Amino acid sequence: MKALVTGAAGFVGSHVSEALLAQGADVVGVDCFTDYYSRDLKERNLAGLRTHPKFTFHEAALQHTDAGALMDGVSQVYHLAAQAGVRKSWGADFRTYIDHNIDATQRLLEAAKGKPDLHRFVYASSSSVYGDVAPIPMREDAYLQPLSPYGVTKLAAEHLCHLYFANYGVPTVSLRFFTVYGPRQRPDMAFNRFIRAAFGQAPITLYGDGEQTRDFTFIADIVAANLAAGDRGRPGAVYNIGGGSRVSVTEVLALVAELTGRTLDIRREETQKGDMRDTFADTSRARADLGFRPGWTLRDGLEAEVEWLRKDV
Ligand code: NAD
Ligand code: UGA
Repeated sequence: MKALVTGAAGFVGSHVSEALLAQGADVVGVDCFTDYYSRDLKERNLAGLRTHPKFTFHEAALQHTDAGALMDGVSQVYHLAAQAGVRKSWGADFRTYIDHNIDATQRLLEAAKGKPDLHRFVYASSSSVYGDVAPIPMREDAYLQPLSPYGVTKLAAEHLCHLYFANYGVPTVSLRFFTVYGPRQRPDMAFNRFIRAAFGQAPITLYGDGEQTRDFTFIADIVAANLAAGDRGRPGAVYNIGGGSRVSVTEVLALVAELTGRTLDIRREETQKGDMRDTFADTSRARADLGFRPGWTLRDGLEAEVEWLRKDV
């Protein structure tokens, strides 16, 4: 097996790359080190990979490189590269989301056409495609009305995956990840910000009333879903991947205080535009087709992230 992992220096991409290598695969990683967060953090994510004999790395942006050459002999593509982050996607920043999420995906799909060795093309979609209209728990066949520009670009790329499956037979499988956390989580995300602020005795910003809920998903469960989808996901299908730990942000903050042993200094700000009120995945389709079974409780997963960040204190 030879896999191409896009966004290999990122949070999810570095974990997926390591898991593939552990299974004996050859892995080609590509990443352009966008400046959304520091290169130093991404180099740390890559450190173990760079020394592995079966890992090769290309520093390149998908939309400005020969994606076809990257895919030579590749049986699985894990397309994890994107401009992530819901709250930053308004205004002038939207262009970046178009470039990295829509344009880059279209070029990768073009390159995937007619590749005889390609078994699966797994695309990292997002719970943000649902918006606030889908009934809870969210099912894949719900009406989709994203609430953020980010969600619009993730949905556009998901549609592109389906188009290239339907018209060219590219074996795409889209996974809608629900808020992922754990070691290496992006520094803009809630858990990472809360834990660092707790250790640093700095103020924590709480957006809104704290009663918004998320189906938080531990990184190891996301990795397992990616590997299963790359093996036996139904071409053309979309799957929700959620951890089954739907809790409010207020409940998360209480757990952060307990696990770090610190008193939190919480400062409220208004709800951010684009933020969904609630997410909760119906994962029956992933359970049936992929054998997906989330294995991590929120407490155990959060503890793993706390321990990862503790070493930086
Ligand atoms: P991340 O920012 O840590 O990783 C993405 C990586 O892709 C970065 O290292 C970035 O430099 C790289 N990249 C971006 N555009 C690129 C391009 N055009 N060419 C090459 N490299 C590029 O983000 P993450 O949290 O690991 O997210 C991974 C994927 O999962 C993304 O597609 C994201 O939209 C999706 N997702 C993440 C979450 C989550 O909670 N983290 C939830 C739902 C979906
Ligand atoms: C996350 C990722 O950041 C997106 O890339 C991804 O696509 C999305 O999940 C998804 O599931 O599709 P989000 O749910 O906003 O988006 O993740 P967090 O940054 O962890 O935020 C969770 C909640 O905490 C949100 O309601 C947010 O407003 C709140 N929050 C975040 C705060 O109250 N304070 C903060 O400092 C950060």
